[in-house]
Amino acid sequence: MSAFDSQNDRFTLSNGVKIPCIGYGTWQTSPGQIADCVKNAIKAGYTHIDTAWVYGNEPEVGDGIKSSGAKREDLFITTKHWVTERGYKKTVDAIDVSLKNLKLDYIDLYLIHWPCVEKISPEWKEINADTWRGFEELYKSGKLRAIGVSNFQAKHLNALFEMCSVRPMVNQLEFHPGYTQWDNIRFAQENGILAEAWSPLGSGAVLKDPRLVEMASKYGKSVAQLCVRFALECGVLPLPKSTDPVRTALNLQVFDFSISEEDKNTLLTFPELGFSGFLPEDAPADAIA
Ligand code: A2P
Repeated sequence: MSAFDSQNDRFTLSNGVKIPCIGYGTWQTSPGQIADCVKNAIKAGYTHIDTAWVYGNEPEVGDGIKSSGAKREDLFITTKHWVTERGYKKTVDAIDVSLKNLKLDYIDLYLIHWPCVEKISPEWKEINADTWRGFEELYKSGKLRAIGVSNFQAKHLNALFEMCSVRPMVNQLEFHPGYTQWDNIRFAQENGILAEAWSPLGSGAVLKDPRLVEMASKYGKSVAQLCVRFALECGVLPLPKSTDPVRTALNLQVFDFSISEEDKNTLLTFPELGFSGFLPEDAPADAIA
């Protein structure tokens, strides 16, 4: 059984900041729907909302937060820096756009969305370090309570470690049965970095798999709930998303069962299923979200 017994439980980041153990993801939602989704999610009990500048929905996410009536200090809001804003100066300026969009005066967690990689520039290490210098300054100024990265592999993190003064506190990675990229998760965890799961339900692609349906039914749970619980039991913070209020609420109901070691191993070694195809080295960096 993992240490998590309730949706109010939190992971502790390396700087001591506490982060609610399940977040509500907002990628791939249609314009016009996400404000209500965020408001519903907060009503259902989510206190942690994950967005990104490139999703194009920061203003609507901000509207949803405002209309929920929740106190700012009771919420944990993550957004992400986009690849067009790499470098120190652009990074320092980009945060003000996200703050204005979200109608907030600080962000709880800001992430580099994708690393710059060798294929994009031979100076990739310096470019990531320069962007990170902007993150460090914003962190020290108090505009950000915590800073991290997303989609970084070990080599990208190792290069950053050599040039940074504050280490990333989070690495957000694709993670679900059928694509756990366990080496990258383990590397993060071994370095005191909290791993978060984007697409913990495989963007819906794993939910009808008969092997997973059978496993989930043993616990009296849906495959979505099995996936959320699986992430938590691996020490990975899941960010499930749903535009449906009932499914949004159901995805939080994962604290009344635990997954057997045998089933956890099956999930960790599941044949590839639902992989997005997004890899930092292969994908054109300005075309991936
Ligand atoms: P919907 O918005 O119609 O609920 P991920 O979080 O891995 O990105 O997956 C999101 C996808 O999974 C969306 O297509 C979402 O569709 C679907 N989804 C989310 N929760 C559930 C659930 N409990 N049951 C079935 N589908 C779900």
